[in-house]
Amino acid sequence: MASASMAASPGNWAAARQGTGVAYVEDPIRAFAIATMFWGIVGFLVGVVIASQLAWPALNLGLEWTSFGRLRPVHTSAVIFAFGGNALLGTSLYIVQRTCRARLWGGEEMGWWLFWGYQFFIVTAALGYVLGVTQGKEYAEPEWFSDLWLTVLWVMYLLAYAGTIMRREEPHIYVANWFFLAFIITVALLHIGNNVSLPLALTSTFSYAAPAGVQGAMIQWWYGHNAVGFFLTAGFLGMMYYFIPKQAERPVYSYRLSIVHFWSIIFLYIWAGPHHLHYTALPDWAQTLGMVFSVMLWMPSWGGMINGIMTLSGAWDKLRTNAGLRFSVTAVAFYGMSTFEGPVMSIKAVNSLSHYTDWTIGHVHSGALGWNGFITFGALYWLIPVLWKRARMWSEALIAWHFWLATLGIVLYITAMWVSGIMQGLMWRAYDELGFLQYSFIETVAAMHPYYVIRALGGVLYLSGAILMAWNVFKTITAGEEVEEARVAAPAAQPVPAE
Ligand code: HEM
Ligand code: HEM
Repeated sequence: MASASMAASPGNWAAARQGTGVAYVEDPIRAFAIATMFWGIVGFLVGVVIASQLAWPALNLGLEWTSFGRLRPVHTSAVIFAFGGNALLGTSLYIVQRTCRARLWGGEEMGWWLFWGYQFFIVTAALGYVLGVTQGKEYAEPEWFSDLWLTVLWVMYLLAYAGTIMRREEPHIYVANWFFLAFIITVALLHIGNNVSLPLALTSTFSYAAPAGVQGAMIQWWYGHNAVGFFLTAGFLGMMYYFIPKQAERPVYSYRLSIVHFWSIIFLYIWAGPHHLHYTALPDWAQTLGMVFSVMLWMPSWGGMINGIMTLSGAWDKLRTNAGLRFSVTAVAFYGMSTFEGPVMSIKAVNSLSHYTDWTIGHVHSGALGWNGFITFGALYWLIPVLWKRARMWSEALIAWHFWLATLGIVLYITAMWVSGIMQGLMWRAYDELGFLQYSFIETVAAMHPYYVIRALGGVLYLSGAILMAWNVFKTITAGEEVEEARVAAPAAQPVPAE
């Protein structure tokens, strides 16, 4: 903790301005940045398609490969693992080298193995979904052969990451690395734990899961919830702790709070999975345990949000001029919103209304679009000029357009889902005076229609923003002039100097 106070000293910042002479591995990171955008657009597009299928079922086209059931996991995996995963791998490999002042362990080859190996995993998994090859476990759909490949790749990732930390020139391990390491190690545990299965035969693409019944369900949701906690949260917090101080040119508001934030969410998340199985065959005590840990998660999550937002103290004016920073800060606000909503939904009485309804979908997307999407866009707008040695992005105006289109898209998406979700829940539990259900199921489906149209429109706006970003990035790379001193060498006011 000593370095926390030491870190913020101006003398330390001055050291940060000096070049390090380390030959960082950057080409694979550029590829990860491009892949993030590519898969983002693919994932958002499939999101718009399935949202439209829910509004207009004829868009299923009557074909099994294009049916909602097959495309839905293509969407969830494309956005979480392809868009989010490429963003996490790319930024983590960038950050670990800079904050440790060390070249990536395994060098350029390791970077490329990780890059192509990960794209290979994505493609085999996605092809499987469309062809109907799936384990049928949400967020863990890939079959055993893709899972084995990912396991090998993930061990390489851990070696590269930990190896870089171990050869660091910087004595202190900056907090972003803590979050990334927790993400890498826990995802390995979850992936292995939830994929213990037996292939039907070595020549078969299908397998049986080892645990069955309620144990199987509990392991699945231990996995599912911690995929949220460590893939969609811890890793992205690693991004927050690096890019917000960079963009604001301010040290992290409280380094001490970041450590408390780290240990408390690491400890609490792992127990909260049973909130996905309220009112099921899972023992009641386990459901209550999940609820209690989920409610406790609210505090450290908000501690992290406050830390991110308060890092802007004294730099709020930058929001007017730095549209990229606007994304990052709004992301943290959405992080705060979804980590308030989640604990509320985990309360059994609330969950009895929200579960199975679109309220859950609204919660998911306030986190996914607002937190994961926006923090990634903010990081990319900072990284692209740095990686390609440009003074700035090609057009600040386009970034602002992206911001407003995406924000409006999210607002339409989540408000539509809140209204439709709560209405759906209330209609399902409405009885008439004789004790019969007041609405048939099909009446509740018909009532959703206008909200599904609004959600699809929100998705189109979000997707349009991402396309503007891709165009802006393309122009930055092709039309911009290379500068000697890219922003990478600019003053870096943060606890541990990055370069
Ligand atoms: C253009 C943007 C997007 C649109 C239009 C969209 C649309 C959809 C739709 C229609 C569903 C199915 C809902 C249902 O079954 O009732 C869905 C599910 C899901 N989406 Fe998206 N999505 C978008 C972006 C994202 C992003 C960026 C992420 C994550 C980073 C994400 C994560 C998920 C997840 C996790 C689910 C499954 C939720 C659950 O099972 O509870 N989506 N999305
Ligand atoms: C303190 C933090 C959080 C808590 C306690 C929490 C709690 C919950 C609860 C209670 C549900 C509904 C479970 C059900 O009825 O089936 C849920 C669903 C979900 N949440 Fe959260 N949430 C939190 C934060 C987040 C964040 C930040 C994200 C994403 C980026 C997220 C993504 C999801 C997803 C993807 C689902 C849907 C899972 C599924 O059924 O497929 N959550 N969460």
